[in-house]
Amino acid sequence: MKLINTLLMLGVSLTTLWAEAAGNPEDLARQWCANCHTADGNSTSPLFPRLAGQQQGYLVQQLQALKAHNRSDQSAHDYMWGIAETLDDATINGIAAYFASQKPLPNTAAVDSSLLSRGQQLFEKGDEARGTPACAACHGPHGEGNEYGGPRLAGQHAMYLSKQLHVFETAQRPSAVAMQAIIKTLNEEDIKAVTAYLQSLH
Ligand code: HEC
Ligand code: HEC
Repeated sequence: MKLINTLLMLGVSLTTLWAEAAGNPEDLARQWCANCHTADGNSTSPLFPRLAGQQQGYLVQQLQALKAHNRSDQSAHDYMWGIAETLDDATINGIAAYFASQKPLPNTAAVDSSLLSRGQQLFEKGDEARGTPACAACHGPHGEGNEYGGPRLAGQHAMYLSKQLHVFETAQRPSAVAMQAIIKTLNEEDIKAVTAYLQSLH
């Protein structure tokens, strides 16, 4: 918890710094968002989702949702509400363009390799018997996402992905209608397998 407190305090003091850098979304991303997401968006800590190469439209949509308190899981509330509230539309669009254009690097954190083939099967084919659609249909054949709203998942931290899959069991991300239905078809083993596979995907 100490780390989180320190980061939150850092976030607060950087709000003041930001007032001086205002108007330039790229500087803002490199100086402020970088504290948690890293400057190129390839965070190594699983606490902080990777933003590099994320779909621009998805980043805009999520930042607007966080700003409007329309994404209300605990971490979103604790880390992102206060930050998103300070961003105007032009800044949100500029920051989204910046992170979307950063090159996603492979995620080299260790995964349990015995999970990968089941994860790949779920991602590419789904599980017809249980009504699970192929994730690739909406998240792209290589997990790169698409412009219709499916976010990039490739290389994302398994811990973050699994945390969000559990958020979809609640109404805390109301825009995620498809995911709220899909999560009902997945059990804990499936979640472990598909998130390990996605983290290893590049
Ligand atoms: C103090 C640490 C911290 C800082 C600084 C920070 N973030 Fe975050 N951010 C987080 C955490 C933690 C999450 C995960 C929230 C959750 O689990 O719902 C997150 C989530 C996000 C998401 C959602 C990602 C997804 O895949 O859905 C976006 C977009 C985002 N942050 C953008 C930004 C931007 C832009 C800035 C700078 C203006 C910023 N963040 C600054 C900690 C931070
Ligand atoms: C019908 C389309 C569709 C299918 C199929 C689908 N997804 Fe999604 N998924 C979405 C959309 C759209 C979002 C963004 C939700 C939002 O607006 O918050 C999303 C979000 C997510 C997120 C959150 C990402 C983040 O950065 O916070 C995860 C994790 C995820 N999906 C995993 C999966 C997995 C695993 C499967 C397959 C078992 C799957 N999805 C199948 C459409 C889909």
